[in-house]
Amino acid sequence: MSSSEVVIRRAKPADIPSINAIHKNYVQNTVVTFMTEPNSDEDAAGNYEQTKALGLPYIVATNQANETVLGYSYVSPFRGVKPGYRHTLELSLFCHLNHVRKGVGRQLLTRMINILKAPEDHREWFEGMRLNDSRPKQLMAVMSVDVEGPGNGLKLRDWYLQFGFEQRGHLKEVGWKMERWIDTIYLQLPLPKCNDILSENGSPDLQYSQSLLSATALSVRNGERQANAGASHVINRVKALALGLGKEYCHLNDLETSISL
Ligand SMILES: CC(C)(COP(=O)(O)OP(=O)(O)OC[C@H]1O[C@@H](n2cnc3c(N)ncnc32)[C@H](O)[C@@H]1OP(=O)(O)O)[C@@H](O)C(=O)NCCC(=O)NCCS
Repeated sequence: MSSSEVVIRRAKPADIPSINAIHKNYVQNTVVTFMTEPNSDEDAAGNYEQTKALGLPYIVATNQANETVLGYSYVSPFRGVKPGYRHTLELSLFCHLNHVRKGVGRQLLTRMINILKAPEDHREWFEGMRLNDSRPKQLMAVMSVDVEGPGNGLKLRDWYLQFGFEQRGHLKEVGWKMERWIDTIYLQLPLPKCNDILSENGSPDLQYSQSLLSATALSVRNGERQANAGASHVINRVKALALGLGKEYCHLNDLETSISL
């Protein structure tokens, strides 16, 4: 299936049985989730409703021809609902077992990142969320290390790194499933927007800007061309700030070339 035959759209209640069937397979046959009993469709619908009630995006990838759900992704508050964490979200992402390694996960994750990075430009995906209070700032992916998976489980980590995630922690043997101990890896992706490159006292934080630029470049390389305009804006802004301070910002030229503005 080519990427043009995959449609990414908001999930709707009618998708829940398909979504839950995808998840159930991973619960019953893999260690990628530490759940041991599958959700009922009612539980899955409750999850969906809770995500919507929080105003957070819940998306599906479907086959354009027949509307089959190929995969889904949503975000939830990191570490439950402790308000101090409200700017940090945790990713859930699952593709149908028959449709892995066809680029569907990449399309879903690219879209989710772009939505989270510029929520003001994607308001329709944040139903009812008060963006000023809860603007997403960090995205966490917490993955289990399935030693029976590709690359002893580390290919999944490497896959995330391609999107700009950074590994922040490796917890040893925190899970027990399928008669074995399982590690988890914490990955983090900052979701800054242009004006975040100014620190609170108004001076530019160039190191922070560099990670912002790298993340932007990655998202451009990963698809979605509208990110290009954002990247150009960020680069011009950092350039102006660096110039004002009389500092050189040597990475900018490389970056400009690599994303072919
Ligand atoms: C991880 C996942 C979302 C990736 O989506 P996808 O559509 O299969 O990924 P893409 O086709 O865009 O990229 C495929 C690459 O993913 C990487 N990958 C890592 N772990 C993988 C896995 N368990 N299965 C398939 N691909 C995996 C491989 O490097 C693969 O590249 P290759 O085919 O050249 O070896 C999907 O495989 C999936 O749903 N896996 C099970 C659930 C899961 O682990 N979710 C993440 C929870 S943190």
